[in-house]
Amino acid sequence: MSNQENKTEQSKIYKEAPVTEPERQYYFIEQARKEAEKQSRELGRPLSFCCVTFGCQMNARDSEKLTGILEQAGYVEAENEEEADFVIYNTCTVRENANTRVYGRLGQLGRMKKQHPHKMIALCGCMMQEPEVVEKLKKSYRFVDLIFGTHNIFKFAELLYRRFETGQMVVDIWKDTDKIVEDLPVERKYPFKSGVNIMFGCNNFCSYCIVPYVRGRERSRNPRDIIREIKNLVADGVVEVMLLGQNVNSYGKNLEEPMSFAELLRQVEQIEGLKRIRFMTSHPKDLSDELIEVMAESKKICRHLHLPVQSGSSRILKQMNRRYTKEQYLELVEKIRRAMPDISLTTDIIVGFPGETEEDFEETLDVVRKVRYDSAFTFLYSPRTGTPAAAMENQVPEAVAKERFDRLLKEVQEIASQVCAVHEGTTQEVLVESVSEHDPSLLTGRMSNNLLVHFPGEKSLIGTLVPVYLKEAKGFYYMGMPADGA
Ligand code: SAH
Ligand code: SF4
Ligand code: F3S
Repeated sequence: MSNQENKTEQSKIYKEAPVTEPERQYYFIEQARKEAEKQSRELGRPLSFCCVTFGCQMNARDSEKLTGILEQAGYVEAENEEEADFVIYNTCTVRENANTRVYGRLGQLGRMKKQHPHKMIALCGCMMQEPEVVEKLKKSYRFVDLIFGTHNIFKFAELLYRRFETGQMVVDIWKDTDKIVEDLPVERKYPFKSGVNIMFGCNNFCSYCIVPYVRGRERSRNPRDIIREIKNLVADGVVEVMLLGQNVNSYGKNLEEPMSFAELLRQVEQIEGLKRIRFMTSHPKDLSDELIEVMAESKKICRHLHLPVQSGSSRILKQMNRRYTKEQYLELVEKIRRAMPDISLTTDIIVGFPGETEEDFEETLDVVRKVRYDSAFTFLYSPRTGTPAAAMENQVPEAVAKERFDRLLKEVQEIASQVCAVHEGTTQEVLVESVSEHDPSLLTGRMSNNLLVHFPGEKSLIGTLVPVYLKEAKGFYYMGMPADGA
């Protein structure tokens, strides 16, 4: 077939493709599969892929969707990036160091591609929603084959096929979307637990944060779709779900028939066979009394709440556009603890936000000492282009921020190791997740409060809930043994 004929043939394929989703993507998965099969016959082996995730649980879930599509197109998972015929980076841009890591690894990939020209490289995720990034890639990273963003990730199969067809760099980025495409293939990392998106995007515009710009406006999934997905997951062996959203507490506000997050949890609780429910992330300003009530009454919702505080200074919180004060946050914590004394609280804290003084920072330390978190993710403030905070004049010198960061980390760790030790000598239900990375005779499992436990046991227990006696606290994890009757 001449090139011209080939092109005509291909555009016919686009015309014939269904216009509705997800049918259209299933059609392109099939087309991509035919192409991959052809290539694999020439190579005499199946084509392989490697999907690398940067960033948060949302991205991890998206990567499972990318993996699902690649596997249906006939690709098998490679051991590493070097061996893979197709490498895809699902990127994050929440802090500058996330971007730096991507560029670093991309440079290495480019060198690999020089030796193996048939290797394909795709980039997607939050970083791709930044126009400067895409410009830079187009200019200085010409070896990249495929670039797409967060809003059109559902089109991956179609774009992959287009890359096969044109043989040229394919770039497709959408500015925003109001669309949610359901029912695409997914390949889970763990057979027994799964993330479940309940909403996409964010409307909060915290002044330091790039997420609303790269993930778009808040969209909630229809509760029926969520429940159906979880029921299917349970039928497929899942016992624990993590409901995902940038601000789960505002779930359902924009649905045709509005529904609260607490009500959604009530419905998820009813699903037979589902054992554990987690969720992330809760914005303190939207955490309702109804949610606390539902959590306290629930048998399935885990005893863990991630409640990012960001700063302890009401003045800085205002500048951050967080819409709560230090006092309101502490009151909320008290209310939660009154309803659930055994709950584990974790948080995110940013150090060195523009204008942060030593006094502001002391307020943050004060919150840490008062709340006594089970753990805290601490971040050095990173200016993100286009956000209001990046344009603020009084940026904190790096050395000052770093010094505060180290003090905060020390405080957080000291408290966490004390808080985590309180369960020593008790028996807790543990979801067994894997064989221990450090000792093959041990299993690693997770307690309801999200802490890890290592204990002796048979591999066959992976994916089940077992009672474990917590023998010894080791700071951030426990050493345990199977409880009597296990
Ligand atoms: N939606 C979640 C957070 C998503 S981003 C929430 O509102 O809690 C995860 C964490 O990254 C944030 O909680 C914040 O602590 C941190 N973060 C976001 N932007 C940042 C920035 N510009 N610099 C440093 N840390 C940042
Ligand atoms: Fe970012 Fe704030 Fe939205 Fe969280 S709630 S994603 S920190 S803008
Ligand atoms: Fe990063 Fe995007 Fe998540 S910026 S933190 S991967 S939403």
